[in-house]
Amino acid sequence: MKTQRVLTGITTSGTPHLGNYVGAIRPTVRASRLAEVESFYFLADYHALIKVGEPARVQRSTLEIAATWLACGLDPERVTFYRQSDIPEIPELTWLLTCVTGKGVLNRAHAYKAAVDKNNAAGEDPDAGVTAGLFMYPVLMAADILMFNAHQVPVGRDQIQHIEMARDMAASFNHLYGEHFTLPEAAIEEHVATLPGLDGRKMSKSYDNTIPLFVPREQLRKLIMGILTDSRAPGEPKSTEGSALFQLYQAFASADETAALAKAYADGIAWGDAKQMLFERLDREIAPLREVYDQLIQDPARIERTLKAGADKARAIATPFTARLREAVGLRRLDSTVASASAKVTKAVAPAFKQYREEDGLFYFKLVDASGATLLQSTGFASGKAAAQAIALLQQQGHEALAGLQAQLTQQGDPRALEQALRHFAANAKA
Ligand code: TRP
Repeated sequence: MKTQRVLTGITTSGTPHLGNYVGAIRPTVRASRLAEVESFYFLADYHALIKVGEPARVQRSTLEIAATWLACGLDPERVTFYRQSDIPEIPELTWLLTCVTGKGVLNRAHAYKAAVDKNNAAGEDPDAGVTAGLFMYPVLMAADILMFNAHQVPVGRDQIQHIEMARDMAASFNHLYGEHFTLPEAAIEEHVATLPGLDGRKMSKSYDNTIPLFVPREQLRKLIMGILTDSRAPGEPKSTEGSALFQLYQAFASADETAALAKAYADGIAWGDAKQMLFERLDREIAPLREVYDQLIQDPARIERTLKAGADKARAIATPFTARLREAVGLRRLDSTVASASAKVTKAVAPAFKQYREEDGLFYFKLVDASGATLLQSTGFASGKAAAQAIALLQQQGHEALAGLQAQLTQQGDPRALEQALRHFAANAKA
């Protein structure tokens, strides 16, 4: 089976809380360690601009979310972890998709429709206060997903419609221009708990009832002591059903620990003691992560470097793929052959080395990009093995190998595209 590509984005508009941790971060980091998946996680900061008009908040949230994921064990060597706005190919793809998306389809997007419905109910102009950014949200999201041909997109239920729209855009594009995009599927975690907040409703920024994941220990204790409970006195049996305190505990504790708390409820544990138990159980899991988080937050330059390295990995895919898409839609160099309307669609997805033997008996190779254009051409080698060794060197060392091989190469093609292609191999060689 082909390795499954899993991709998801996190909008950089807030501070991660326990609900995000239990519902998304913890399961996602675990899944990213599975051998058969290739994961892409990114900070959706272009999306943040749709909701947030404060530059400092976007920056702060980006820092906090990046530090959170790293502190929670996301391994940037193993996965591709990047910032959306470091990939200029994404807004470019957004435009290509915009041109194959029906406006009527976007009219039906839940978030946009909700805004319109609200305006209508208030007797306002239907589009009052609605930005074109909100309207275009699903297209930007589709570009995020389709750029990397993700198979699976783990999201919350509220995002399912967006994934369906991304599928539709992919299908329309493929229909018009050939098979370029994988049709993505939403991956919904059925058994992941939605966590209650301080007031018992779903933990959510919009209810202002969250417990931030990485507040200092004492503040965490204070917040937990403030969780809403009923007025049963110590000694009175308590019900686990509908108890926010109990549900929070359960999300962190083992089955045995949870059973023990259930028994303590039945035996009439005082709320203060139950809260202390919850605090200690939570802090046991969070404290070591918090320590890493605090260090990371102190060193934004390190996070910046990590994200930049992630962007390099992502662009090793995005740059050649965008070149192929540009070619497909007809954004082409004028001195390249004008293809007839029925021209065959190229199947290559990534740059590739081609090895062959000429009539002179010598062994040659060339490096071609996603659209089949030659980036590098070798001179003749006496043996196939010698040619293969040169290829291996280029694949492992990338650009650095070029100098040593000058005598065997007649360089062609765009030097920047060549560099990108070599970086692609070097990145894969290290992985
Ligand atoms: N819209 C998603 C959310 O609010 C964030 C997001 C942006 C995303 N681009 C994405 C999720 C691509 C998955 C894939 O949760």
